[in-house]
Amino acid sequence: MAPSSPLPPPEEKPTFVRHMFADAARRYDRMNRIMTLGQDQRWRRMVVEACRIQPGARVLDVATGTADIALEVLRRHPQARVVGADFTHEMMRIGQAKDPTGRIAFIEGDALHLPFPDQSFDAVCSGFLMRNVTDVRAAFAEQYRVTRPGGRVVCLEITRPATPIWRDVFHLYFFKLVPRLSAFLSSNKEAYTYLPHSTLQFPRPPQLAQIMRSVGFRRVTWRTLMLGTIALHVGEV
Ligand SMILES: C[S@@+](CC[C@H](N)C(=O)[O-])C[C@H]1O[C@@H](n2cnc3c(N)ncnc32)[C@H](O)[C@@H]1O
Repeated sequence: MAPSSPLPPPEEKPTFVRHMFADAARRYDRMNRIMTLGQDQRWRRMVVEACRIQPGARVLDVATGTADIALEVLRRHPQARVVGADFTHEMMRIGQAKDPTGRIAFIEGDALHLPFPDQSFDAVCSGFLMRNVTDVRAAFAEQYRVTRPGGRVVCLEITRPATPIWRDVFHLYFFKLVPRLSAFLSSNKEAYTYLPHSTLQFPRPPQLAQIMRSVGFRRVTWRTLMLGTIALHVGEV
């Protein structure tokens, strides 16, 4: 059994999430590498591949955080025009320091009200955003709105494995090991208690695909990675 939920009520969630990431910003990259056993950058490369970026494409990385996906887009596609949007200034400041020549346009904005006109981008992606929003459908609807017809939207997120044995391993890892590890490595234990609980309420991959279809996405596909603990969804506008 999971311990009682420390998740905030929906009306407090955006402030809670923003404070949590503002506080974790300086340690975020290091914690990511450790908690994913060094796999997280490989998954971000898969996100960029799934975007099918063409030369000169306009790409939006929603909830860019410390900009690892946005930087990967530029590494693979130096001609792309990349925007990183996030509502936590402190996370983007770390990202800006990793982009000294200023190739990424960092914009402060909410994933539920993206500050861009309709059809502004050829591809829109997000990594580890969707668990944090109060309305997953509304977030996908915004991504759909700002993507041009024929463009792609790609979503990378943690998910719960379907196989019983891996479910138990996942539970042990996220509920027991991750909070201890984070308590050891950082002062922000809250963040890594929130993390496992937020995965419990998050739709499983088939349901997430269904939400994407309900918004209007076509040809929605998904695959799981890392023993079913990570899901990569792709949809076309
Ligand atoms: C787990 S981090 C992921 C950062 C980055 N995408 C990555 O791959 O490492 C989640 C990010 O989502 C941002 N975020 C959460 N909810 C958001 C919202 N409603 N609007 C904009 N950004 C949001 C947080 O500020 C944080 O930077």
